[in-house]
Amino acid sequence: MKLGVMCSGNGTNFENIVRTCYQDEVVLMIHNIKDCGARKRACKLGIPCAHIKSKEEQQIVNEFKWANVDLIVLAGWMKILTPYFINSFPNKIINIHPSLLPKYKGLNVIEKALNSGDEFTGCTVHYVNEDLDSGEIICQGKVPIYRDDTVDTLTRRIQLKEYCILPGAIEHVKHKLQVGTN
Ligand code: GAR
Repeated sequence: MKLGVMCSGNGTNFENIVRTCYQDEVVLMIHNIKDCGARKRACKLGIPCAHIKSKEEQQIVNEFKWANVDLIVLAGWMKILTPYFINSFPNKIINIHPSLLPKYKGLNVIEKALNSGDEFTGCTVHYVNEDLDSGEIICQGKVPIYRDDTVDTLTRRIQLKEYCILPGAIEHVKHKLQVGTN
C-alpha cells in the first residue's frame, strides 16, 4: 500500500506514521506551509515532499495520482478540502482531529475543550467527507482534562494519544481497502 500525507505544521504525527508504517510505505508528503516542521522531518526521514499551496488542489490531486497513493492521511492539514478533492479519492482520505467528535469541530478545539468544564477530551480519526469534521469515525482516544491544565499541557496529552491511535487506524483502513469493503 502507498500512503500520501498532508501537513500544515510541525509534522509530529507525520513522523510517527513514517516510523510506524512499513518501510517505503509513505511515498509523498504534501505541505501547504513552506518551511514547516513537517518539511524538515521529511528531509530528515528521506520522504519525498512537495510544497503546494492549498488553493492549488488540482496540482495536489495530480501529485498523489502520479504517486499512485492508495490512502491519504491528513496529519495536521489545517485547510478545508473541496468536494473536487474529496471525490478524487473516495473513501481514501482520513483525518486526525484533536477532540472527541462530534464535540468541537473546526479550529481552536483544545481551548474549547479546556474552557468547557468537560472532564475528558481526546482525539478522533475519521473519514473525510464534504462536511467539516463529520465523516464516519474510525477510532477515538480519550484523555482526562485536569484542573491545572493549560492549552500546552492538554495539547501534549492529546498528541501522545494521537500517536497511539493513528497508526492503528491506518492499518484498519488499509485492511478494509485490501479486502475491498470500503
Ligand atoms: C494534531 O494535533 C492534529 O490533531 C491537529 O493538528 C495537529 C498537528 O500536529 N489537526 C487539526 O486540528 C485538524 N483540524 P503535528 O503537525 O505535530 O502532527
